[in-house]
Amino acid sequence: MANTKILVTGGTGYIGSHTVVELQQAGYDVVIVDNLSNSNIGVLDGIERISGIRPEFVQGDITDIRTLHDLFSNHGPIKGIINFAASKAVGESVQKPLLYYRNNLVGLMNLLELMPQYGVEGIVFSSSCTVYGEPDRNPIDESAPIKPATSPYGNTKQISEEIITDVIHAGAPIKSILLRYFNPVGAHPSAEIGELPIGVPQNLIPYLTQTAAGIRPALTVFGNDYDTPDGTCIRDFIDVVDLARAHVIAMRRMLDRHDTQPLEIFNLGTGRGLSVMQLIQSFERATGVKVPYTIGARREGDIEKIWADPKKANEVLGWSADTDIDQTMRNAWKWQMKVSHAD
Ligand code: UD1
Repeated sequence: MANTKILVTGGTGYIGSHTVVELQQAGYDVVIVDNLSNSNIGVLDGIERISGIRPEFVQGDITDIRTLHDLFSNHGPIKGIINFAASKAVGESVQKPLLYYRNNLVGLMNLLELMPQYGVEGIVFSSSCTVYGEPDRNPIDESAPIKPATSPYGNTKQISEEIITDVIHAGAPIKSILLRYFNPVGAHPSAEIGELPIGVPQNLIPYLTQTAAGIRPALTVFGNDYDTPDGTCIRDFIDVVDLARAHVIAMRRMLDRHDTQPLEIFNLGTGRGLSVMQLIQSFERATGVKVPYTIGARREGDIEKIWADPKKANEVLGWSADTDIDQTMRNAWKWQMKVSHAD
């Protein structure tokens, strides 16, 4: 019998590529669609070196419905979708809102529209803890209120969740699991795949590892006067491979179980909050490499502190994020060294 086939949109991207590997290792066939706007074709080689299997690949944009018709017709039958294809830079979304609304919402709507036509049973959606805004208390669980979005990017995640909810409520013959990620960091321990920021990194870890590698003179810590023990912001940093594993479990649950609700939501985090300073210290401890840093002004729109209550995912999915943060930092560093030497 043929393996179950999963479409991974944005599958050459950071979280997508790690998830493709985990899906393959769990016995799924994978077809990737990616427009390569924020990744490159060489990622397929990295995936193949880890899993021994080259995924099918379609270069295209999910905002183009013809591309999707062709894909479902020529690469099917596809039973499930994991939708990573989206733009994700908060600052850029403020500058280019239409780009964000188009990329993130039109692509999702196309997928939802075509799923019943092509017999696709379920979709796992990449959401974000950004939907909670600044939490009233931490750790935060899935029942916490959704706060007004502070950027078009954040708004696309909220609207996407609402679109999926409404479509399922209207009786579409599909299931969905919304995964709210906290802060994914690290790289595959093989250093064959990892995060590949184009241009100046906006996120903490790629900026930190590039600084440690001497590519940037110093990391700026955005604010040390927050109401936290050391004054820097607190996040729930989750290893990208732990995060990827959760997608496989979610997919299996959606496709194989008939006793689950059509729509489910899970926080994916460790349950542990670490400050920006603590993360720098963890990196230095784990790698023995110093990170030059300066304290700068607060970054507009930043949340002071947020970390997950992952109990629902722990209990219902039987999943937990177990990778030690120092190990995650070593993986991030190993990947940075590899990328630096490739240049
Ligand atoms: C943001 C988004 C999140 C999105 C993620 C991935 C919000 C509130 N958060 O997370 O939804 O999924 O990006 O794109 O919209 N920092 C520094 N110096 C730096 C970079 C970052 O001090 O050079 C600090 C930030 O101020 C923050 C922490 O590091 O306190 C984490 O920042 P970052 O990695 O950008 O992620 P978030 O802003 O948490």
